[in-house]
Amino acid sequence: MVLKLDPGSRLVVATHNPGKARELAQILENRFELVTAGELGLPEPDETEQTFVGNALLKARAAAQASGLVALADDSGLSVTALEGQPGVYSARWAGPARDFDIAMRKVEERLEEAETRDASAWFSCALAVAWPDGPAVVVEGRVDGTLTFPRRGDRGFGYDPIFIPEGFAETFGEMDPTAKDRMSHRARAFEKLKAALL
Ligand code: IMP
Repeated sequence: MVLKLDPGSRLVVATHNPGKARELAQILENRFELVTAGELGLPEPDETEQTFVGNALLKARAAAQASGLVALADDSGLSVTALEGQPGVYSARWAGPARDFDIAMRKVEERLEEAETRDASAWFSCALAVAWPDGPAVVVEGRVDGTLTFPRRGDRGFGYDPIFIPEGFAETFGEMDPTAKDRMSHRARAFEKLKAALL
């Protein structure tokens, strides 16, 4: 089965975060009329899956079924090799209810110290899923590998950016020019794959 999206289609973005919807619209080069799950008053499902792909699909399917529109959802996070992939799908939850990433980054540092390892390798992942209300779905995943560094460096990014140095670079994502990050990030790589699959 070939699934394609027609330009101008109405697409619901399964996020309650207007900033994320804007970013997705830009990446999709404003080809679609986007509405957010928040604007439609759709409930936010619990992210109960153990993989980024699983959670992105779960969110896209829930939004497509509730709205009757094609839905796009993402799930992303940081995985640390020596911590067996943690925080992974719990990346946002490690920052606690106040979404305090100083706490989350300190937790990563403490866990690495406890693990008594020299392996500081880690990767960011981003899964993107598109689901149709009648059932079919497409899901892709992008990844960027790198190394963790402490103490944190740079305040240009968000989340775990200040402790992550992408492979082949000297600066953390927190120090890097945001447009340079956007060109090579896990999200950019996932979007390239999604575009190839759908557009
Ligand atoms: P989501 O909104 O459920 O996908 O949660 C993803 C979490 O992973 C965010 O809260 C961020 O902390 C973290 N994350 C994902 N992508 C990035 C990134 O590019 N830089 C830093 N942190 C990220």
